Amino acid sequence: MRSIYLGFEGKIIKKGAEAELYLIDFLGIPAILKKRIPKPYRAKELDAHIRRMRTSHEVTMMFHARVCGVPVPAIYDVDPDEGVIIMEYIPGPTLKEMTLKDYEVSSIFKLVGFYVGKMHLNNIVHGDLTTANIIVPEPEKPFFVDFGLAERTGELEAIGTDVHLMLRALESTHYSKVKELFNAFLRGYREIMGGKVENVLKKVQEIRRRGRYVEERRAKIH
Ligand SMILES: Nc1ncnc2c1ncn2[C@@H]1O[C@H](COP(=O)(O)OP(=O)(O)O)[C@@H](O)[C@H]1O
Ligand SMILES: [Mg+2]
Repeated sequence: MRSIYLGFEGKIIKKGAEAELYLIDFLGIPAILKKRIPKPYRAKELDAHIRRMRTSHEVTMMFHARVCGVPVPAIYDVDPDEGVIIMEYIPGPTLKEMTLKDYEVSSIFKLVGFYVGKMHLNNIVHGDLTTANIIVPEPEKPFFVDFGLAERTGELEAIGTDVHLMLRALESTHYSKVKELFNAFLRGYREIMGGKVENVLKKVQEIRRRGRYVEERRAKIH
């Protein structure tokens, strides 16, 4: 199947290592086209296979999350052979931009925790849970994007890794507000996860200790 979007015209909004994102016109409405780009250093067949798998995986995981009631852009179309996903355009800043600009974001973090809880309770782990992958068109509805690394699992290790990533993202970009924002996140998360939260937090601590140990060893070696 040849994609009708191959000759699309759009404004590039992000050029990442793996994908390019364009703002396009889709049958009269604004839409985002995410295209995984071929990697010249990979064998052609293998490269096509990887792009096809990742594209269909990302769409499948977005859909699972959406079915669970998590705000995720609607999928308009997908062409795995071209590595293309066309989805709803969510206008607005990322949560990262909002936090850096000192907006009042506590209540948004609580909602983020709430929705991450929904994902985890439904055995969906996002896999790249950072404030850059959350778009905030209105304060009551943070949208999650970038499900390329998401997984279907209920394992505590994977769930803990998700929460740990959020904590790390806060520590690296929003250092002065870590405590306030992580606590807000946990308030929302607890609403959904209830008594499971303590086990998740224990896991997060364990992952942190492991990380520190690895960093110390690296420092000794170099
Ligand atoms: N549906 C969308 N609507 C509006 N902006 C989007 C949408 N999807 C992604 N973006 C923007 O593009 C950026 C990169 O998209 P993402 O899927 O995270 O790709 P990457 O894998 O390169 O990080 C996001 O951080 C967000 O700012
Ligand atoms: Mg991203």
